Amino acid sequence: VPLQTYNTFGIAARALQLVRLRSEDDLHQLLAHAGHAAQPKFVLGGGSNVVITGDIRPMTLKVEIPGKRLVAETDRHWIVEAGAGEVWHDLVAWTLAQGWPGLENLALVPGTVGAAPVQNIGAYGVELQDRFHELDAIDLRNGQTFTLNAAQCGFGYRDSVFKHPPGDARDHGLAGCAVIVRVRFALPKQWQPELDYLDLQRKQAETGVARPTAQQVFDWVCAIRRAKLPDPAVIGNAGSFFKNPTCTEAQVRDIIAREPKLVHYPMPDGSIKLAAGWLIDACGWKGKAVGKAAVYDKQALVLVNKGGATGGEVMTLAKSIQTSVYERFGIRLEPEPVVV
Ligand code: EPU
Repeated sequence: VPLQTYNTFGIAARALQLVRLRSEDDLHQLLAHAGHAAQPKFVLGGGSNVVITGDIRPMTLKVEIPGKRLVAETDRHWIVEAGAGEVWHDLVAWTLAQGWPGLENLALVPGTVGAAPVQNIGAYGVELQDRFHELDAIDLRNGQTFTLNAAQCGFGYRDSVFKHPPGDARDHGLAGCAVIVRVRFALPKQWQPELDYLDLQRKQAETGVARPTAQQVFDWVCAIRRAKLPDPAVIGNAGSFFKNPTCTEAQVRDIIAREPKLVHYPMPDGSIKLAAGWLIDACGWKGKAVGKAAVYDKQALVLVNKGGATGGEVMTLAKSIQTSVYERFGIRLEPEPVVV
């Protein structure tokens, strides 16, 4: 099965075997087959956070489980549940239309609902974990459905138990062992706009709106993203290609002595976050290419497919960027997408 339209990078690789899961039951049936149960598997959502470097041998499970509904209400929250196969942005728009705010800062994040907790998607001052209630998943090893709360998901910056293999240092990793089937969100009834991010404050100043509605914040986020980030439907990409690295105050002082313009943000825990996009930009990478893989000219943190790029070209470009950033700043950049 060709995967080019199933990954937002638009890389032309194939899955030797692809199974579409339209319901939780589809997966139970698949696992009831001894032969299928034993096969290694690869879980694919919207394909917006993967770099595929070759044909995929494990059985590819494409999660297409639908559904969006209000499941409960507490004094403080609306509890909304969505099937893992729902398009993330559509869920955001739908919750706002229903009058349940809270996800607006995460508008236009590509991908599916089921993929959102895997990397704890985040944008413009809000992370998935801030609005997360629970998720239901199926363990591929025994076919059991289980539920995880936020603490059990082990959320971190672009991180969760679903990114770590079992037996990893955190020892309860679930990468490759579980399929998320449903996610529940707790959306605040006492809603406050989250406007800490500089780009949003600029919008606020431009428009002179003192207290925006959730719909206005949604519109601002969409406008900011459209201006800065390539639309994967037009230019293949997987969003930010590297995580923003953190370092110590001493390290930052040392770098600033040589590089006074370094963009950095103090974090609540005392560490300092660096803008990876700035580091890459400073090394002159904007617009540079390896074959058909290139650095986006409006945001250096995004790698794009100019048409026909291979996963190998993307990874060669990524490695060259890592090397030059390390040589100049002594900082190691870590890729954000999953490399398959
Ligand atoms: N910068 C440059 N040159 C560039 C890009 C950035 O100098 O080419 C500097 C600018 O000073 C800018 C700063 O870096 O102010 C930060 O850039 P930006 O606001 O674009 O955000 P980011 O740190 O590059 C992160 C997330 C994005 C998220 C935005 C908004 C990561 C890895 N990326 O990007 O998430 O949308 O903030 O919150 O944390 C993603 O994960 O795929 C993603 C797009």
